[in-house]
Amino acid sequence: MLNWDDPLATARPQTDPAARHAPHARHAPAPAAAAPVRPGGGVVSNAALMATAGSAPMVDPNPAPAQPALIADTEPAAPTAEQRAPERDAASDQAGGGATGLEDLELGAGRVHVDDKKIINCRADLNQLVPFKYDWAWQKYLDACANHWMPQEINMNADIALWKDPHGLTDDERTIIKRNLGFFSTADSLVANNLVLAVYRHLTNPECRQYLLRQAFEEALHTHSYQYAVESLGLDEGEIFNMYREVPSVARKAEWALPYTQHLADPHFHTGTRENDQRLLRELVAFYVIFEGLFFYVGFVQVLSMGRRNKMTGTAEQFQYILRDESMHMNFGIDVINQIKIENPHLWTAEFKQELVDMIRDAVQLEADYAHETMPRGVLGLNAPMFEEYLQFIANRRCAQIGLPEQYPGVANPFPWMSEVLDLKKEKNFFETRVTEYQTGGALSWD
Ligand SMILES: [Fe+2]
Ligand SMILES: [Fe+2]
Repeated sequence: MLNWDDPLATARPQTDPAARHAPHARHAPAPAAAAPVRPGGGVVSNAALMATAGSAPMVDPNPAPAQPALIADTEPAAPTAEQRAPERDAASDQAGGGATGLEDLELGAGRVHVDDKKIINCRADLNQLVPFKYDWAWQKYLDACANHWMPQEINMNADIALWKDPHGLTDDERTIIKRNLGFFSTADSLVANNLVLAVYRHLTNPECRQYLLRQAFEEALHTHSYQYAVESLGLDEGEIFNMYREVPSVARKAEWALPYTQHLADPHFHTGTRENDQRLLRELVAFYVIFEGLFFYVGFVQVLSMGRRNKMTGTAEQFQYILRDESMHMNFGIDVINQIKIENPHLWTAEFKQELVDMIRDAVQLEADYAHETMPRGVLGLNAPMFEEYLQFIANRRCAQIGLPEQYPGVANPFPWMSEVLDLKKEKNFFETRVTEYQTGGALSWD
């Protein structure tokens, strides 16, 4: 079941992907109430995460029936993870950081208990997926797998014909397609590199890492999708893939994001101090809440608007799948941020919150500039001021999702149809090119 905790998505009943109830390890029937949460211990459900941001619905506005609770491991007391942590390098010890998963084996060490698990700075063995602690992370992994798609399955013939027709599109419409292919084609690589070279090392939890691996593959699919569109349309690939170094409005977004990943990717950086843990948290906000949660949305609206007008429908359909993936990436990041807050409340200081608010406000301005530069005139019934309001609307929701105060009172969503675009599970998509209820696979033939 998808966790459509996107502010743009309307409340909807959850329908079932079969994968959702794939068996977990050692489950017992769940009590009606959410599993209790305490810093560093117990199974953590979506409902528990929601509590960290006050009344704002942060994680799942349509929560599924309560997650099964784990049966507590009843083995005799074993050494704690702290006691049995293998020796780590001096720098890591100095910072108090967590395991990486590559430590030497300690034969006969006590088994991992759910309470040993921590989302950052965990010293328990990271190579053991179970027992699950963060059900929300495992569920997102299952949901993401159920959403599998491949770019080349989407027919691009109508796009190719329209693009080659000299009267098929206006110059402004062509600009929108090229700018967004330019931005996204490198932005998704940047996100992927941030995941595997920076974020992955510092999230010390196997079920979160399982989702990160799936997300990394999806980012590869997204880059593949843009390459497929560039190739199909016969665009100048050098022009498109260099846009983030040559076109200022595209470059500024990448320039904004890069510093947030560069120091985390430094092999000498370790979490474990307040300063460094805040640095990780800040980076997670920068990439999940701002880069994927704000910087993608002008482009999504622009390209999907073309699809709604029956133009570039193959490209728009690819963006529709990508939007679905990105919505889940963002929600995962928000869950991670809130889980870190639960376990490390000392990080969430007034000063730090103000810093995040300032980041979000700067980002709104940067993305509004992108809207102006990609559509200097009105096009497709859209104009740049509409995007400013839209970005403020999204920013309000993003703030609420991580427990920050709303920044733009009274703004409304000028694109309510985006909610329907996100709702891929229930209906044939609006381009009517194919049924979008996509599930993995189909039966394999072993003949
Ligand atoms: Fe992506
Ligand atoms: Fe993403």
